[in-house]
Amino acid sequence: MSLSPAPIVTDGIVASLYLERLRAGLPGREIAVCVLPDGEQHKTLVSFTTVIDRLIEHKFRRDCCIVALGGGVVGDVGGFAAACYLRGVDLVQVPTTLLAQVDSSVGGKTAVNHPRAKNMIGAFYQPKSVIADTATLTTLPPREVGAGLAEIIKYGLIADAKLFAWLEENIENLLALDPAALELAIKRSCEIKAEIVAEDEREQGKRALLNFGHTFGHALEAIGRYERWLHGEAVAIGMEMAANVSAELGWLDRTERERVSRLLAKARLPHAAPGVAADEVLEHMQMDKKIARSGLRLVLLEGIGRAVLSPAPERAVLREAIERQLR
Ligand code: NAD
Ligand code: GLY
Repeated sequence: MSLSPAPIVTDGIVASLYLERLRAGLPGREIAVCVLPDGEQHKTLVSFTTVIDRLIEHKFRRDCCIVALGGGVVGDVGGFAAACYLRGVDLVQVPTTLLAQVDSSVGGKTAVNHPRAKNMIGAFYQPKSVIADTATLTTLPPREVGAGLAEIIKYGLIADAKLFAWLEENIENLLALDPAALELAIKRSCEIKAEIVAEDEREQGKRALLNFGHTFGHALEAIGRYERWLHGEAVAIGMEMAANVSAELGWLDRTERERVSRLLAKARLPHAAPGVAADEVLEHMQMDKKIARSGLRLVLLEGIGRAVLSPAPERAVLREAIERQLR
């Protein structure tokens, strides 16, 4: 029996570190490699077309299995290509960033960005499997580790007060890439995400909670032309803004509000977006995918570990919550 061909989608940095090791693990298969430029600014329809061109050039058929080797950008572009090529071919995610191991490789969201709004073109498309080797994290730049920590903190905030308290005690171990701490944090993050996605794969309701901080964060990413902040960094600032709204509504008490900022700071994440105008953020937020006919909705906190999807408060409250993180 011949083994299914395995086109590999990766980026230049990851290819230089891990491509040969992956290739060695796929003996006897037809392999083609598509190396994309790295970075969020390349999560575009141009990169998507590059992947499709390569698949056509090699005449891959429906029996191929795309392997996405890299961070969330490669995973999202490669995944979207798998969803579209020949109306869908198999996909295996091999995430190599902390963020991709705890979030983007799991759950089946794939997408590319539009210059005006994040993740606007995409598909729900589940991988056949996700293979995360935590040893790849040892080569990650510290800023990328922080970006992954932002999503882990998010899980604690939306669904698991115990995880949040554990993070308060163990964030230094995670920053130092302690294997036992990483294993626990990655496993618990994937469990939380899988539980939510199993209930609501297509984001008709509960899955939106995974987007805590993201309505603000996606707006900042687009404003920063997908270059100024890493995704996890923009989400960290967005979580501060969402926590401000929650506190303003009286849902999050002062001590809890302070714990949010303290943990994000301990993870060395940015807390503010100086130079950005609140109106610009508000305008970009109108492109959010959670927007309903009745208006903008936000994921807010009723306490640490308890998130809800709620209609956005009046504009003055929202503006103040944003402005506090712009100075
Ligand atoms: P990324 O894919 O841009 O990777 C970050 C950087 O790290 C890149 O320069 C990459 O080349 C490099 N890199 C990757 N692995 C490395 C390694 N092991 N050693 C050294 N360098 C390495 O960014 P990311 O943070 O992994 O992913 C962010 C993207 O994920 C965003 O586009 C975001 O929207 C998306 N995302 C998607 C989902 C989803 O559900 N699909 C969820 C969360 C985030
Ligand atoms: N990162 C949000 C989601 O997967 O739904």
